[in-house]
Amino acid sequence: MADYDDSISGRISTDCPREIQQVLTAAWAHDVETVKKLLDVPEKARCQDPKTKETPLHAAIRACGEPSEDDTPEDLEAASKTVSELLLWGAIWNDVDDHDETPGCVAYRLGRTELYNLCVDSGVRAELLFGLMYGYEELPSGEEDEDEEMEVIEHADAPETNGNGTLEDGEEAPELVVVENIQESGVLVPEAESEAQADDEEDEGVTIEKEKEPKADVNSEAYLASKLTYSEGKLVDDDGNGVMMAWETGIMRQSVDALLPDKSSGKRILNIGFGMGIIDSMFAEIKPAVHHIIEAHPAVLEHISSSPECKFGPTWEQSGPEEGAYKVYSGKWQEICPQLLEEGQVYDAIYFDTFGEDYAQLRMFFTEFVPGLLDGQGIFGFFNGLGADRRICYDVYTKVAEMHLADAGLDVEWKVIDVDMKEMAEAGKGEWEGVRRRYWTLDKYRLPVCTFLG
Ligand SMILES: C[S@@+](CC[C@H](N)C(=O)[O-])C[C@H]1O[C@@H](n2cnc3c(N)ncnc32)[C@H](O)[C@@H]1O
Repeated sequence: MADYDDSISGRISTDCPREIQQVLTAAWAHDVETVKKLLDVPEKARCQDPKTKETPLHAAIRACGEPSEDDTPEDLEAASKTVSELLLWGAIWNDVDDHDETPGCVAYRLGRTELYNLCVDSGVRAELLFGLMYGYEELPSGEEDEDEEMEVIEHADAPETNGNGTLEDGEEAPELVVVENIQESGVLVPEAESEAQADDEEDEGVTIEKEKEPKADVNSEAYLASKLTYSEGKLVDDDGNGVMMAWETGIMRQSVDALLPDKSSGKRILNIGFGMGIIDSMFAEIKPAVHHIIEAHPAVLEHISSSPECKFGPTWEQSGPEEGAYKVYSGKWQEICPQLLEEGQVYDAIYFDTFGEDYAQLRMFFTEFVPGLLDGQGIFGFFNGLGADRRICYDVYTKVAEMHLADAGLDVEWKVIDVDMKEMAEAGKGEWEGVRRRYWTLDKYRLPVCTFLG
């Protein structure tokens, strides 16, 4: 673990503007009354020390240090109240400091679970609210390099709030951008204030991160037009983004075990996203009655139909128990699924693992298609890479997805499985060699096992 200087002198710089210094110092001291007085505009709750990028939320959490026997219940209550007050005033749950830590990351590192949970809950509220009010835009699904990733996080910011987390009347909806790049599904937060607005706020002595140049994101359209390379243990696009990697084989195996607990033959299976065919090979082992695959990328389709290493070509299709039982549907699931619904297809197990699409697409799939395509006793699963390059985002998105799944009439049980991080700890090394961005950083995977509620 990195050794950070968590002292007040290390975090609140001597040349920090006075207005910011006052808020940071009051937050550090857990002086709720002074914090309340100073927070006369929401921007102040998200001011940052220009040098260390410390926000009041970072300060209030960092000041606690690691749990010790000197902690008194009053100290803990004051810390909690300060954090809650700041969040109420629009402090941002995922602003990062100069060590690329969000306030929640600091809380987690210090072992301050209660404060960590306050940050997670704030993240869930923010994501639900923004998703509800503005929807989401396309996800860059490939790996940005580390700098780019941080840049996106830096300019992620919350909209103006009236202090209760809701927008002021007549405000413009902020654009939503991806903060954490996730392999297959995106996590989105509101984009930074406009540069002009940030300038205004700087004039008032409050620093807000300025929006940077938009980046070339990986999105579905760009991904589906990209060149792909199958090589030993991975499938990458022409930007070096890892589309699918062999380290996920264990996750695929456990997903199959969860979707088909009794492994009996004769099951009806739908898999969305062929990739390296890892999960489809596992599905094929149990001799399904129906095995449908939907795949949209022309290079993957070419690999399926003509690569000698791929066993899901025309011979496999003809080997099904009846015509059309084993089939690769060419096209986007968004186009194929309505057709399957119309045909009255129903499956015992459905797995969803695409690339270059945002969380809204996954949500649309389980809201609009799973209810019609899944048998009443069937099981649905998806690759859960939501926010997986930062623990707090993973925790936030676990809760967000859980709520949206419930809205869709689905109950989710998260099966926690270990991920061996030995070869995956460093970007560009081990499993990540030749891959642009480390889209997975966590040692536990939450495998979703979804069934109909009730
Ligand atoms: C991560 S890979 C799937 C890996 C697979 N689970 C395996 O075990 O190898 C994602 C796949 O989804 C495909 N894909 C992306 N967007 C799609 C869409 N809208 N419809 C269908 N397939 C899509 C990609 O081309 C890619 O083959």
